[in-house]
Amino acid sequence: MTLDRYRQVMDSWPYRPELDWMIEISDGHYVANTCVWYDELNGVALLEPLGVDPAFRRQGLARAVALQAMHAARDVGAKRAIVYPRGDELYPFTKPLYLGLGFRPYAQAVSFVKRR
Ligand SMILES: CC(C)(COP(=O)(O)OP(=O)(O)OC[C@H]1O[C@@H](n2cnc3c(N)ncnc32)[C@H](O)[C@@H]1OP(=O)(O)O)[C@@H](O)C(=O)NCCC(=O)NCCS
Repeated sequence: MTLDRYRQVMDSWPYRPELDWMIEISDGHYVANTCVWYDELNGVALLEPLGVDPAFRRQGLARAVALQAMHAARDVGAKRAIVYPRGDELYPFTKPLYLGLGFRPYAQAVSFVKRR
C-alpha cells in the first residue's frame, strides 16, 4: 500500500477514520490493520481488508484488531458485521479466524473457470 493509494482509500465513501484501526509496535511500524466500511442505513459493518505483517502472524493480532474495529463499529451504531473472505481449500485459514471471531457462514461464492 502506497501513501497515495491510502489517501484514495481515505477519500472513498463511506470511509470513517474512527473505523480504521492499526496495531503499531514500539519502533513505530504498523503490523496489523483493518478497516470497517459502515452502512449506516442498514446498520451493517463490512470488515475489509484485514492484514497482518507476515513477521507478526499467529500472535492474535488479526483477532485483536478486528475485535477493536468491530467494537468501534458498534459504538457508532452497527448491529451486524460482515466479511467476505476467500475460504476455498487453497486458502483455508481465514475460516477458523472468522469463526473464532463469532462470524457464521451465510453464503458462498463459487468460481467457474473455463478450461481450454
Ligand atoms: C489472515 C491473517 C489476517 C491472520 O492474521 P494473524 O494475526 O496471523 O491471525 P491471528 O493470530 O489473530 O489468528 C487468529 C486465528 O485465526 C486462525 N489462523 C490464522 N492464521 C492461520 C494459519 N496460517 N493457519 C491456520 N489457522 C490460522 C487460527 O484459528 C488463529 O487462532 P489460533 O492462533 O489460536 O489457532 C494473516 O495471515 C494475513 O494478513 N494474511 C494475508 C491477508 C489475508 O488473507 N487477509 C484476510 C482477508 S479476508
